[in-house]
Amino acid sequence: MRLIAITSQKGGVGKTTIALNLAYALAKRGRMTLLVDCDPQGSIGLSLSPQAAARNGLAEVIEGTAPLDKAILATRMTELRILTVGRPTPSQVIRWNDIMSDGMLFHEVFAAAAEMGIDTLIADTPAGMCGPTLGVLRNADYVVIPQQAEPLALRSTIAFLEAIAHLRDEGHRLAIAGMILTMLQVEQAESVGVFHEVSKLFPTHFLFGTIIPRHPLILQASAKGVPLGLLTKTPPALAQAFDQLAAELEVRASLNAGQEEAASDVVPVMD
Ligand SMILES: Nc1ncnc2c1ncn2[C@@H]1O[C@H](COP(=O)(O)OP(=O)(O)O)[C@@H](O)[C@H]1O
Ligand SMILES: [Mg+2]
Repeated sequence: MRLIAITSQKGGVGKTTIALNLAYALAKRGRMTLLVDCDPQGSIGLSLSPQAAARNGLAEVIEGTAPLDKAILATRMTELRILTVGRPTPSQVIRWNDIMSDGMLFHEVFAAAAEMGIDTLIADTPAGMCGPTLGVLRNADYVVIPQQAEPLALRSTIAFLEAIAHLRDEGHRLAIAGMILTMLQVEQAESVGVFHEVSKLFPTHFLFGTIIPRHPLILQASAKGVPLGLLTKTPPALAQAFDQLAAELEVRASLNAGQEEAASDVVPVMD
């Protein structure tokens, strides 16, 4: 199984949107995909139906009050399953900052998912290097970093990359699959400016070729809690952006190769 973490220093940059749409696109490509919401704010649970949001999820699995196979939600696609964050109590949310950061509790859950035949696990995380995010990164094979195409968004990203480099110095296998530019507004000079700045700052291959524009349809889809491809009967053309992102990720994260091969396939953080 490959574990791909979707992380960023800042909130509201499009992590959850990318996690959901990427998981859907990977499942459409035939991968047994599990989307795990590791954010106690529970963005993925919230966007599902009220019944789904009231169900058991990661919190109950971690507490030992629900078995993983019962907590995982099936979807209309056999290949796509979802583990919501469940219903963590406020005290659990606070405790998660301590107990989740070493990654051991996540390790148990992720290993059990691998045993269930999941081959690609997409973990959505809370913003910043808080406990659950650290715990996920300590288990992850690859990290995808959404970068909002807005001024000032870059500064926090550099600090975040340094923290990832630190985790690797600690001996974690985590590799950066790439940074994905999101919410690009081509008609806004400042937004395009971020793209140019990113291209100057990082090696060319660091940025995914796919760029996600800011678009009302993406907002509408997340308000309905569905991937963009399921918003309308015929998928909007824009949904192809996530298909393209999934195809790129398959290559970058060696999803079609053996585990040993991927381990050496580390993308440098910065030159
Ligand atoms: N490409 C986009 N175009 C328009 N709205 C977007 C786009 N990506 C995300 N959004 C919206 O921006 C808000 C924040 O996105 P979200 O994915 O929840 O970010 P995060 O998980 O990083 O906090 C949500 O309301 C979402 O619907
Ligand atoms: Mg989110």
